[in-house]
Amino acid sequence: MMTNKDWLKSAGIPFQIATQAPEEGACCPIFFLEGEKKGVLWVHPDNCDTQGQILREASGLLQNTLVPLEPLEGLEHALAAAVKGRLSHVVVDETLFDNEDIFLEDPEGYIRLTPSNLRQALNLMTKKSQVRFIDFSTTATSAQKNKSRKRVLSGIQPSGDMTLGNWLGAVELWKKQIEEYPNCYFFLADLHSLTVAPEPEELRERIRKTATLLLACGLDMERAAMFRQSQLGGVHTELAWLFACITPEGRLEQMTQFKEKAQKQASVGTGLKIYPILMAADIAIYQSHLVPVGDDQRQHLELAREIIRKFNSRYGHTFVVPKALVREGSTARVMDLTDGTKKMSKSSTNTDGCIYLLDSPEDINRKIKRAKTDAIRDLYPDSVERPETTNLLGIYQGLTGLSMEAIIAEFEGQGHGALKKALTECLIAKLEPVRKRYAQYSAEPGYVEGVLARGAERVYPIAAETLSKAKERVGL
Ligand code: TRP
Repeated sequence: MMTNKDWLKSAGIPFQIATQAPEEGACCPIFFLEGEKKGVLWVHPDNCDTQGQILREASGLLQNTLVPLEPLEGLEHALAAAVKGRLSHVVVDETLFDNEDIFLEDPEGYIRLTPSNLRQALNLMTKKSQVRFIDFSTTATSAQKNKSRKRVLSGIQPSGDMTLGNWLGAVELWKKQIEEYPNCYFFLADLHSLTVAPEPEELRERIRKTATLLLACGLDMERAAMFRQSQLGGVHTELAWLFACITPEGRLEQMTQFKEKAQKQASVGTGLKIYPILMAADIAIYQSHLVPVGDDQRQHLELAREIIRKFNSRYGHTFVVPKALVREGSTARVMDLTDGTKKMSKSSTNTDGCIYLLDSPEDINRKIKRAKTDAIRDLYPDSVERPETTNLLGIYQGLTGLSMEAIIAEFEGQGHGALKKALTECLIAKLEPVRKRYAQYSAEPGYVEGVLARGAERVYPIAAETLSKAKERVGL
């Protein structure tokens, strides 16, 4: 009878035989399924609390009743059975590909494959349409079950002022995540800020301001943990060093942000180049599962995953491989009020294009009044033809949580004037409490420091444990 090994050999797909049992989490259970049609289901152990749970979930996703079959010829024959056409569907959990190596059980030990070789095998063995890749870490029931276990982490550079873009793009999302996940960690990436050589007094003030603003936005930083990266700088940077030693220099030079920032500086510090390595360490040191970031950080996150997987593969499974939660949709990018093709940014030369969270009602009124519009009377979004109108509608949508249809209906027969009026009122009402709280917390500096100290204290044990494990793995 043809086994997995025979089949892989005949298909010319490279693999190794491992006699040692793989690390926990590396060997994926395979279920044979019988419903209307027979199939196999491969799930990452992290996403599979019980067999019953995963089967119910897969049944829902495939709209097919699935029951596990007794392993007829043993699980080890899964690939071979599929290739003979005896299985009509193969369902594969995307999370499997997060592992550097994938292990299949085999009579002689374990077959060890790389993710790309497994993909190749899957595509060869069935017609592509029969293989379904599903990310079981984000499907409804397992995501729910996993929430208490998953750690969410994000960093923000302490740039001082925060804009409406930061609010709608990041802060509102963090608020939701804090409600949903008991373990959310948010830190001020103050070590990263040094890469552009700020003045010391200015940096200190920006850190204070950003921390105070985050609290003023109403983020529940007692439920989540907020801290400064430099409070735990020793552990972050020590892990970054271990990572630096396995990161090819060329990968750093490919980073778009490095290329852009380096161009703007007369002399480029090494820190700017190794920025993504520190970022990978920030993430890995807390064994973070989910990392909410803006679109501009997508590339850094991809590199962080690469570094972490490489470490896991070279030294044995040590870190959780994180997933980026990249913000999408109209509120992910709030555009400049005077130019709808540019991102709203504090570095913009025209300050009227950008709304700051601490803007007074008069500022808001003026900026919205001056915001660019077009001559079409009806209001509807069209990001190509009408970037400014689309932006105003998107901001209103982000603030009110209404659907675009509801907004269009609200302003039917009215023009930009009505939208601007509603938008101004809404902004003033939303930002008023932020300004009040900001004033209150600023008058009480010990408060913000206390939150940061408690945050650092809470996360330190996780970081320390991870670091000592990593050091032991590399032979220190
Ligand atoms: N580079 C991120 C930014 O500028 C900030 C950051 C640093 C970060 N370390 C991180 C974000 C770790 C997420 C996870 O936005």
